[in-house]
Amino acid sequence: MSAPASVAGAAALAFTHRFVPATDPAAPPLLLLHGTGGDENDLLPIGRMLAPGAALLSPRGKVSEGGMPRFFRRLAEGVFDEQDVVRRANELADFIAEARAAYGLPAPVAVGFSNGANIAAALLMLRPEALSGAILLRAMVPLAAPPAGTLPGTPVLILSGAADPIVPRGNAERLADELTRRGGQVEHKVLSGGHGLTPADVAAARAWFQANTPRPAA
Ligand code: MLT
Repeated sequence: MSAPASVAGAAALAFTHRFVPATDPAAPPLLLLHGTGGDENDLLPIGRMLAPGAALLSPRGKVSEGGMPRFFRRLAEGVFDEQDVVRRANELADFIAEARAAYGLPAPVAVGFSNGANIAAALLMLRPEALSGAILLRAMVPLAAPPAGTLPGTPVLILSGAADPIVPRGNAERLADELTRRGGQVEHKVLSGGHGLTPADVAAARAWFQANTPRPAA
């Protein structure tokens, strides 16, 4: 039985979510994935800045860590319950398929921050058909030994923080290498700053999105 969506106008699907319809039907929809302790409202303003006119689909993570929503369980900061990563990535991919049918959407481009970026990276490894691209903000490797898979030509942008106390630089580099090995068109940039987002992230993500994301056929 599906949990009800949080807002009037959003269909009752398997995740509590916000949905903002497109005003530009040729713009690819964005799947917005918040960080630990966030919710379905957090990234709507960034989504709007990245892609004015695009549909926005923004679910709330189902895992609670002391009342803070997340997209999968962790054992400690940066130490993930990988069985739960797999289970939750599949659950999220099923929700994306359900939402695409309910709202008539092509495959979305994920925009994930921190824990949301990590579940998006897991989707790229486990259910690559769910996404047409991804912007991973402060992402790290979600699975130590992911199953084999391909990511044929999927555009991916990874934005890391040079002074990020949560994501070691080498970890994000390993993620970029793994996604590239699978066939993704990966761009990895290291910006000055820490784990938090800055205007430089929005500017870099917006420029990349406009240059790299295929516009679905009308
Ligand atoms: C995670 O748990 O996904 C990462 O440690 C990032 C975070 O949410 O703090």
